[in-house]
Amino acid sequence: MAANTTTMETGTDSNNNLYFPPKDIVRKANVKEYETLYQQSIDDRESFWAAEAKKLDWYKKWDKVLDDSRKPFYKWFTGGKINIVYNALDRHQKNATRNKLAIIWEGEPGDVRTFSYHALNREVSKFANILKAMGAKKGDVITIYMPQIPELVIAMLACARIGAVHSVVYGGFSVEALAERIHDSQSRILITADGGFRRGKTTHLKAIANEAMQRSATIEVCITVKRTGEECYMENDRDFWYHDLMLMPLDCKDCKTEVMDSEDPLFILYTSGTTGKPKGLVHTHGGYAVYTATTHKYVFDIKAEDRWWCAADPGWITGHSYIVYAPLINGATIMMYEGAPNHPYPNRWWQMVEKYGINILYTSPTAIRGLMRYGASWANRHDLSSLRLLGSVGEPINPEAWKWYHEVIGKNRCPIMDTWWQTETGGFMITPLPIMPLKPGSCAKPFFGNEIAIVDDHGKEVQQGEEGNLIIKNPWPGMARTILHDPQRYVEKYWEKYQQQGWYLAGDSARQDADGYYWVIGRIDDVIKVSGYRLGSAEIESALVSHPAVTEAAAIALPDDLRGNIIHTTVILREGIAPSDKLADELKEHVEKEIGPIARPAFVIFADKLPKTRSGKIMRRVLKAAAMGLDTGDLTTLEE
Ligand code: WTA
Repeated sequence: MAANTTTMETGTDSNNNLYFPPKDIVRKANVKEYETLYQQSIDDRESFWAAEAKKLDWYKKWDKVLDDSRKPFYKWFTGGKINIVYNALDRHQKNATRNKLAIIWEGEPGDVRTFSYHALNREVSKFANILKAMGAKKGDVITIYMPQIPELVIAMLACARIGAVHSVVYGGFSVEALAERIHDSQSRILITADGGFRRGKTTHLKAIANEAMQRSATIEVCITVKRTGEECYMENDRDFWYHDLMLMPLDCKDCKTEVMDSEDPLFILYTSGTTGKPKGLVHTHGGYAVYTATTHKYVFDIKAEDRWWCAADPGWITGHSYIVYAPLINGATIMMYEGAPNHPYPNRWWQMVEKYGINILYTSPTAIRGLMRYGASWANRHDLSSLRLLGSVGEPINPEAWKWYHEVIGKNRCPIMDTWWQTETGGFMITPLPIMPLKPGSCAKPFFGNEIAIVDDHGKEVQQGEEGNLIIKNPWPGMARTILHDPQRYVEKYWEKYQQQGWYLAGDSARQDADGYYWVIGRIDDVIKVSGYRLGSAEIESALVSHPAVTEAAAIALPDDLRGNIIHTTVILREGIAPSDKLADELKEHVEKEIGPIARPAFVIFADKLPKTRSGKIMRRVLKAAAMGLDTGDLTTLEE
């Protein structure tokens, strides 16, 4: 196939399984052509990014687009002064966007709140002033642990406005996960809520936060938003209600947006890696703003009249980049929903698409598969004609789910943008554009400025169609700059393997087909993706080992039709403790309490020994093969 975007036709080509975008989408697209522009962006990467950066508002223009003098610690737009919040809020106050809806939010019980750009700016200013009054300063790390309510976005923006660094911990995480992240970042301020609504029940975030604060003693001030109204313990001098503080007679109107260096940190986001401790990846004000805004505008073809819905949680990178920052910079209207997609019925999302006239929906394969189970009739009850584009992220989308999404939700007229990227990349790296022919299950081609390759362990490009390590050959503005307090680990994890060539190792395996389309297969390390959420086997293992009955544990991922992966664990018990179904259940509960419901193992198997290499590394591939009833393969390195 020639990816010739000028001769595209509406509809599908069943022979090649190619899906062509409708003509009017191509005609109106923000980017009308890919190959030439892509080539230019590669030939002169810095000019490409400088041109995009100019579209943002800077207090002072940069001196240098890219500083690569300390590889792999790249810097972008050095010498430039900017604040991402100035671009997300302040600049919109000067024109008609101030009257536009910034956020439409619906709670799971059905309550609705909306914020114009003006109102959002006012709330953010007010809360930023309160944070300052509480002693928050530029450079401080502030932990945010909240359900998906507007105050979560307000809190993030308020931190960024005063130059504080936010560290959002996903509201589905539990005590140990939160305590560990607070401790690692040495955060003094925590912003949380009493709880949230999920599947008709309430979550108890403040109770979890209280226990985490006990385990990790750095928090001096905790601000709690009242969401569920359930009673919760508040400690004198430490705990404050958000609504009380917001009534304080501070000068609430204005809080000056702090002038930041382009490379100043904007946030830390913890993500799971191969080893135990989660990594606090650091993203910056300048490069991240440029990268997220550009990818969002081009890939999702953002128009002034669009209502954009990224149905992720702000607690993950998808939410940071594409619920909060990129859409606000681009002046879009953001849809947010607090709860579960199937509550009270499996038409909840489709009802909201119709009610709010959503134009673009961006979600995960696991959510699609989950809704697909209930059949098309739930979606067919609703008028989904406002939809123009769809998106997918988090794991490979199986062609069956892709086709259902395309047919039943997109009515065969909405191209699906299957975007491949990571917490580390900040924004989309490999992705279609709305003008490209699509192949179900492929994330298509590199975004502008990016050179991608599939290589073997020695750095040699594999044959076309063969599987290998996915690498990125170049720096890009949205890249994470380092791991908090651990630059060495940043180098080891991402850059050491192909140090000579200076390539970034993504940790995924993939292949490229004859048309240049990429097909991501999955992780090559011990990262487990459950329902698109990222967990490390080591985290689950340490949670198990923290239980008094367990001495050793191994966690692996098994494929699952609905969730992508489920967690399978093998544990060795302490001397004298007998295995039982009751204990297995207790261990599952324990992991859930320590890390969160997403980490709950589907299986706990008791064993006397774990398969290990002579150097003592657990051979997870042997466990996996055994659990799946497959051949265990070459066991020559197995110790016993
Ligand atoms: C996987 C999420 C296939 C991949 C934004 C990556 C995908 C990991 C896709 C990062 C996709 C993400 N197709 N796999 N479109 N998008 N992944 O950090 O394994 O939570 O390395 O970032 O998700 O997960 P993270």
